[in-house]
Amino acid sequence: MIKKKHLLIIIFLVLIILFLFVFSSLSNKHDVINKIIKKEDNTYSYLINYPYFNNDKVDNYVDNYLNERINTIILDTGDLFIDYDYDIKDNNIFIKFYEYVTKLNTIKENIYEINYNYELDNIIKKRVFEEDNYDILNYTKSDKMVAFTFDDGPSYNTIKIVNTLVKYDSKATFFLVGNKIEKYAKTLDVLVKNGMDIGNHTYSHKELTKLSDKEILKEIDLTNEIIYNKTGIRPTFLRPSYGAMNKRIKKLSTMPIIIWNIDTLDWKYHNSNKIKDKILKYVSDGDIILMHDTFTATSNAVEMVIPELKKQGYRIVSVSELFKYKGVKPKLGIGYGYVGGSNE
Ligand code: NI
Repeated sequence: MIKKKHLLIIIFLVLIILFLFVFSSLSNKHDVINKIIKKEDNTYSYLINYPYFNNDKVDNYVDNYLNERINTIILDTGDLFIDYDYDIKDNNIFIKFYEYVTKLNTIKENIYEINYNYELDNIIKKRVFEEDNYDILNYTKSDKMVAFTFDDGPSYNTIKIVNTLVKYDSKATFFLVGNKIEKYAKTLDVLVKNGMDIGNHTYSHKELTKLSDKEILKEIDLTNEIIYNKTGIRPTFLRPSYGAMNKRIKKLSTMPIIIWNIDTLDWKYHNSNKIKDKILKYVSDGDIILMHDTFTATSNAVEMVIPELKKQGYRIVSVSELFKYKGVKPKLGIGYGYVGGSNE
């Protein structure tokens, strides 16, 4: 006859054993833990977390693979990040290693898949993704960049310029005139869809310095409202028509003011070669370039000048990107002709 007290002890022990059993099987499922390698030398410092599968064959393989890749790539270029993703199913471990090698301003990506089969006790490695290049999204302050700005649109010519910018993975700011927007509502969709910056170039393109305070604010606010209603985006920057500005305008403006330091005079020349040459002659890091998306010579010049600028290591960015990448916070009451770069 088992006493009640003993029965309780037995039940308690059984529960503990059950608990331990469940716990150990659970922890087996979490056998993949992160191992950390840290390597440092004079030039490079890198830290890689990689998986540990509790299987000598796989773990050694992964170890060797990582060491080999790190040594070859580091010698070659100097900047490497290896990430991974894995899946365990049907007697197989699938590990994908994503290698990111940064060189100049692009990232090269390689993907290797390593497949271990428990039954065959065998590892197969294959390259699942050929080297691909894409631009680094995070520019550094020291990268050379220029902001392209286009005034007086939207026009029949705006989408043509957007297409060229997209083709060269570039961005720009379009300072729109409020009373032209209705006619080109679809163009605004194209600007937004392609990540272009939309700025305010007043409602009726009058010289603000000749208007009353009330009229000035109306020119600015009305345009912001129209752009917001069409796109859901509030413009962040004002470019006064003709660049006409004084202390009063700066004080009144509810948005930071953007002018330029390279005037292509495209409206005067209508000559794409002249526009291109002017940019290439004066360009420097952090510049803001003035053009007009209302002229064909300008869209032709854009097509010609971007490859040249890229050859010189420039990125073509919007005004908001220029501020962001140069780490400058735009302030009210200032008219910016450039941001950061060699100008400062
Ligand atoms: Ni204008």
